[in-house]
Amino acid sequence: TILIVDFGSQVTQLIARRVREAGVYSEIVPFQLAEDGFARLKPKAVILSGSPASVTDENAPDIPRVILESGLPIFGICYGQQALCQQLGGRIEGGLTREFGRAFLEVQKASPLFEGIWAEGTRHQVWMSHGDRVTALPEGFEIIAASPGAPYAAIADEERRIYGVQFHPEVVHTPDGAKLLSNFVHKIAGLKNEWTMAAFREKAIAEIREKVGDGKVICGLSGGVDSSVAAVLIHEAIGDQLTCIFVDHGLLRMNEAEEVVTMFRDHYNIPLVHVQAEDTFIDALEGEMDPEVKRKTIGRLFIETFEAEAKKLGGADFLAQGTLYPDVIESVSFTGGPSVTIKSHHNVGGLPERMNMQLVEPLRELFKDEVRVLGKELGLPAHFVGRQPFPGPGLAIRCPGGVTRDKLRILREADAIYLDEIRKAGLYDAIWQAFAVLLPVQTVGVMGDGRTYEFVCALRAVTSVDGMTADFYHFDMEFLGQAATRIINEVKGINRVVYDVTSKPPGTIEWE
Ligand code: XMP
Repeated sequence: TILIVDFGSQVTQLIARRVREAGVYSEIVPFQLAEDGFARLKPKAVILSGSPASVTDENAPDIPRVILESGLPIFGICYGQQALCQQLGGRIEGGLTREFGRAFLEVQKASPLFEGIWAEGTRHQVWMSHGDRVTALPEGFEIIAASPGAPYAAIADEERRIYGVQFHPEVVHTPDGAKLLSNFVHKIAGLKNEWTMAAFREKAIAEIREKVGDGKVICGLSGGVDSSVAAVLIHEAIGDQLTCIFVDHGLLRMNEAEEVVTMFRDHYNIPLVHVQAEDTFIDALEGEMDPEVKRKTIGRLFIETFEAEAKKLGGADFLAQGTLYPDVIESVSFTGGPSVTIKSHHNVGGLPERMNMQLVEPLRELFKDEVRVLGKELGLPAHFVGRQPFPGPGLAIRCPGGVTRDKLRILREADAIYLDEIRKAGLYDAIWQAFAVLLPVQTVGVMGDGRTYEFVCALRAVTSVDGMTADFYHFDMEFLGQAATRIINEVKGINRVVYDVTSKPPGTIEWE
């Protein structure tokens, strides 16, 4: 085990992720509990995270002495490095110019930390984010890499196996960062590559059992990957203490609802309430043109419907959610200042308090790709876990303007053909999201000998790493022509197809 002491950095989870990728188990413990965590976990090495605090602050958090004196390998990142230096007898200065973003460092000396990646005298890109910096080293330490803004960019006491870096090796903007962490874990701490998703599954199951006891859990299934994986995992842990509620708002894609119900009821035998609420949702949306009102209406109805169903079940002690790590970081403001709402995202926010339930979120530490691996581990079909993300408000936000049953029918058919073509062309996994949008515009066309006056369908496909930024997918024109021909021929109600070539920003992925 590796103990990761969290001093409050926004990216501490990324350290854990990199250590997992190196095949080693780690646990994050907040600095206030570091001493207990150290005693409990008996780690083989310790990593110290960054922090929004400054070691020059009066109440700056310390590294517990037991850790410093343990003789174990220690790796301090940013604040972690500064705290190491300060507590071991070096000097830190604050109030210097802040250094943010990309920087280049030069390797001064070979080290096991750089083995197989960085040779002496070479230059490498790293990601910096700090205000303070080390200005004098403790005894036994030497500089192993330096940058113009951070002369102590990487330091080492090879004898005691204590390392510190000013930059952030855990973020992707430090391209070799994962390898540096892997070197620390394998070459310096001597740990083996043996942590797997199977091990995560075991641990998560034990934690769910401990937390839930003999309580009742309900889980809102959306048909998406995250809530499905969470539900299967929780069911494996506590069996029929779990009930899933699937609020079918009538805004899902072709055959999606049936697929979810069949999979959960028949394949997994998980108790599932299928709430057919299409009428409630579509009637409420009828005539509503404003995107934010549409989103809020769907969110409100979802909560009301879910709550009513949960009450019918006699309530529950816990609400299960498929919250992922990026949802956790996104919900924390980096600046503390107000951020602008671009779109109101729809989830079951507010429900746990309203219904007096505690949350169970077994995927909180994971990223999307890891959830997919876990899903496979739990036996979910590959095509299901590989699904592209789908927004909570569903097809309503892909039908700009008013939503009607007829429009939803048209959109569903066009979307299914488009995705079918994408799958057939072998492009599904190369695309982050692909979908059809039904525009509230009719145009004139000619089919056979007759005039047509029907809707325009827009096709969208984007590549993205996390949905925060995106580029439009560069299909070849043959493909687009083929998809358009099929849609116009097969879908009654569409006579024209256009392709959306907007990136994000300035566009968003969804149209509303
Ligand atoms: P935008 O349109 O904001 O979308 O660029 C970014 C990503 O978020 C998805 N999305 C949602 N997901 N509830 C969700 O669970 C929502 O209300 C919602 N709105 C957008 C969108 O599909 C894309 O992946």
